[in-house]
Amino acid sequence: MQRSFRRGAFAGSNHSFRRPRTLEETVTAMRNRREHLEALLVPRGQDHVLRFWEELEEAQRVELAREIESIDFELLDRCVRGKQGDDGVGAALQSVDPAAPRGRGSAAEEAAAISRGEELLRAGGVACVTVAGGQASRLGLDGPKGAFAIGPISGSTLFQILAEKILAAQRTYGAALPWWIMTSEGNDAETRAFFARHQHFGLDPADVRFFAQRMIPAVDVQGRLLLASKHQLFRNPNGHGGVLSGLAECGALAEMARRRIDQVLTCQVDNALVDFVDPLFLGRHMALGAEAACKVVTKRDAAEKVGVIGLRDGRYGCIEYSDLPAALREARDAEGRLCFRAGNIAVHAFRRDFLERVGAGDLSLPYHRAKKKLTVLDEAGRPQEREGIKFETFVFDALPRAQRVLVQEVLREEEFAPVKNREGEDSPATAREAILAQGRRWLESSGVAVPVEVEVEISPLWASRASDAQARVQRGFVTPIGRRWHLRA
Ligand code: UD1
Repeated sequence: MQRSFRRGAFAGSNHSFRRPRTLEETVTAMRNRREHLEALLVPRGQDHVLRFWEELEEAQRVELAREIESIDFELLDRCVRGKQGDDGVGAALQSVDPAAPRGRGSAAEEAAAISRGEELLRAGGVACVTVAGGQASRLGLDGPKGAFAIGPISGSTLFQILAEKILAAQRTYGAALPWWIMTSEGNDAETRAFFARHQHFGLDPADVRFFAQRMIPAVDVQGRLLLASKHQLFRNPNGHGGVLSGLAECGALAEMARRRIDQVLTCQVDNALVDFVDPLFLGRHMALGAEAACKVVTKRDAAEKVGVIGLRDGRYGCIEYSDLPAALREARDAEGRLCFRAGNIAVHAFRRDFLERVGAGDLSLPYHRAKKKLTVLDEAGRPQEREGIKFETFVFDALPRAQRVLVQEVLREEEFAPVKNREGEDSPATAREAILAQGRRWLESSGVAVPVEVEVEISPLWASRASDAQARVQRGFVTPIGRRWHLRA
């Protein structure tokens, strides 16, 4: 059975409420509604969330009632009773041997894989998905993270960079490449408005779709629901794993099937160098007959906050950085390299039929628990910081459910510049540096002399990877004026 926190109102009951017409009817309807909520909450020891009911206006009561009625209490109970983090990681974990990065393996195999991937792209058999429902709290942002301007010269936002990568691929392969973007309740409207304001960055609006992931209530350490305000539960997006059920629920998988789209490429919104419409990755994933694929970089050091791809009982999986025991995190092989160094950059390829099985709940994902300080209401209705537990699912928990998995190593300087923190590592400053370094590298390796004082930013519309830049330069290169070169087709 599919587990859902967003069931229809009064799911599982026969209640239905006609819109009341008179004051008397309104009072009766509200009394009934409260009784219905009490019937749900009292047996579960959760009726404290109705503490402020008498103070609420009608619209607020309706909102609170909807939130309560949408809870799948059976699932919530299981989450509350579940264990913290990933248990049993220890001894059973083995390191992986990823496929060689571009240009580092057999040239013949690489060319064959690229042509296989390109063939599917030309046939319109691929869809793109981006998870952008996170709250960007570490970055201290209010709006959608994708609206963050990261281009050092262009000021391009993360969304624009992704859109241009897709647009460039559409032009190269002469086929549609529909894009689904997962938002969440807090940023859905703003994300849609952002794309509309920017004319979808030149993409066909009919092929840019948005769907909001589900929300899930957080609890205190005793498993009791929390209030964010007098009429709202404290809820959070259900983790990026919500994309798997979300794609099924919003009709995306059905549409992909109708359009004969067999492969789905996914990425997170926050990697400024992401290369997710990658024919080599796609072609290798297909050649292996894999149901899922994952790109990795060699971890910078033991402390880097990336999940590690490893093998347990012969199955691929990702161990989140916070769950990897220190001894494994620090372990080194005979050559002094980290044993568990395959850092997950969260770029995946999935076969559509695999997503159908996961999304239909047959292979449903586990919920992880994270203890966090949450700002919630105390008994007197005052905001207060309290220890709480958030529940989340992760996309990479689909990996052990796949029959076959491709792990593809990529070069950090070419494909991974995450924007996570306000300052320091993985911040806007490091991402901008990485964009400029890549621009300079691509030009120099194409034979262009770039003066030291010049900064180069390359739009995906000019070149999506080094080989595109070389082809451009071979066709003729006019040196731009000034010290800030923004190359854009
Ligand atoms: C994540 C991965 C980590 C990986 C790293 C690579 C997890 C738990 N860990 O770390 O293994 O090495 O990225 O950069 O994901 N998002 C949603 N909905 C949510 C939560 C997040 O769409 O409910 C999206 C965010 O918008 C973002 C992405 O997921 O695009 C990553 O989320 P984040 O919480 O920043 O993950 P990290 O801890 O950075």
